[in-house]
Amino acid sequence: MEDTVEVSIGGAAEATEMADQLTDLYVADSVGSSKQGVAHFSRDRFKARLLDGQANQPGFAIATARANGELIGYMFGCPLPVVNLWWGSVQETLSADLIRETGSRTFALLEGIVRRDWRGRKIASALYAKLLEGRHEERITLMVRPENESAYAIWKHYGYQKIGTADPAGDGTTHLDVLVQYMNATASIQG
Ligand SMILES: CC(C)(COP(=O)(O)OP(=O)(O)OC[C@H]1O[C@@H](n2cnc3c(N)ncnc32)[C@H](O)[C@@H]1OP(=O)(O)O)[C@@H](O)C(=O)NCCC(=O)NCCS
Repeated sequence: MEDTVEVSIGGAAEATEMADQLTDLYVADSVGSSKQGVAHFSRDRFKARLLDGQANQPGFAIATARANGELIGYMFGCPLPVVNLWWGSVQETLSADLIRETGSRTFALLEGIVRRDWRGRKIASALYAKLLEGRHEERITLMVRPENESAYAIWKHYGYQKIGTADPAGDGTTHLDVLVQYMNATASIQG
């Protein structure tokens, strides 16, 4: 039987309702990766970040992919609020204009995962398109582990540029590259 993949968009209510499924997929992905054993990337921290913070942010959105009803991937994010921890976690000095937020300037892509047996089949591509459909932010930002070569290649393919490094855990246990992509190709990164 041909698998039917359904991609849909939701908000905080959907993310909260399926928090356990989202967490299970996240944890399964961490096994054997550089995330394994790092507290920031643990089951409890992921779920707490989602339920106590991320899902409550204005404009939070989640795209999910299901095959025959089963969750096989998701991406979620939210616009950065005026006061945020995102730019504060960047270790380099960035210009005031680069980190200026209005609440609707920058969409932060917080998590994106496709189940291992479904990778390389354009599921992330469909999730990304669904998540960003109709959004009006001028740019998107995300953080990626530099050793995560397959994901890094995809973000570069989409036009992301590295602007710095961050330790979002704040204790030296996370080493992430911070990437930005401008929706308007004529805009550029300065600073
Ligand atoms: C990263 C991840 C979500 C990608 O999922 P996927 O379904 O395999 O990706 P897709 O097949 O949809 O590929 C996405 C796009 O990148 C392109 N692409 C894939 N591999 C590429 C490569 N090595 N170089 C350049 N482009 C590539 C695809 O052609 C597609 O482009 P398109 O939208 O223009 O058609 C998946 O590998 C994953 O879950 N990884 C573990 C979790 C993770 O690392 N998440 C990212 C954290 S920042």
